[in-house]
Amino acid sequence: MTQADWNAELYADKHDFVWKYGSGVLDLLEPQNGESILDLGCGTGELSAKIASSGAKVTGLDASSAMIERAQAQFPALEWPHLEWRIQSATEMTFEAEFDAIFSNAALHWIPSPEKVVFNMARALKLGGRLVLEMGGKGNVAGVVKPLEAVLADEGFALQNPWYFPSVAQYASLLEECGLQVRLAQLFERPTPLKGGTGGMQHWLEMFSIPLLKNVPLERQKELLARVEQEARAQLWDGEKWVADYVRLRIVTVKV
Ligand code: BEZ
Repeated sequence: MTQADWNAELYADKHDFVWKYGSGVLDLLEPQNGESILDLGCGTGELSAKIASSGAKVTGLDASSAMIERAQAQFPALEWPHLEWRIQSATEMTFEAEFDAIFSNAALHWIPSPEKVVFNMARALKLGGRLVLEMGGKGNVAGVVKPLEAVLADEGFALQNPWYFPSVAQYASLLEECGLQVRLAQLFERPTPLKGGTGGMQHWLEMFSIPLLKNVPLERQKELLARVEQEARAQLWDGEKWVADYVRLRIVTVKV
């Protein structure tokens, strides 16, 4: 997670699926005792702690101070000596050959200027170090994005799409340009049930669509989001729950 103004409480209460689904990509990391590992966009730190349980020394980095505060509270330094936290954007980090591995789950699609981020990740890895990541890929949550775009356009508001959902080819070529050899690249659908019953879509929109609504006056936001929900219903409401149409891009690379 990398927005500066996250609501860490709402995230922990209704959106813990973000890190729970991250367990799949974590299996690809295979952290080893004594390794130095960067968890990029660590959010509230649950996956950083899982990695640290292997005996690796983990730096959890996130641009959101609210997320890092929650991570520190959940995993206090006295009990978790292998964990350290840093508030910083991936575009600003200046690590050089410090990490055996970089891990990132559900974060990189939030960061504009992917070229800069990939460059910084490549620089941060030791030679032979690995980058294991999962993020939103091409077509991710289109069932929400399209209604959002349509409703905002209809009301005459300029859209500020904050997300970067690349294809395999787009992201693989960025990685290769920075000396990261792609060993695995997958794009797959991961339909994701939202918590909160009938309110699930509104909770999701309240948490994640804030950056899109920058140009919309506060008093109009609720009404517009209700319209977005209505337009998304035919595709994403299954009669019992909301199921968001997540598409994941999963990548493993090695620095050569
Ligand atoms: C994602 O994890 O793919 C995602 C989450 C919130 C908004 C957009 C995408």
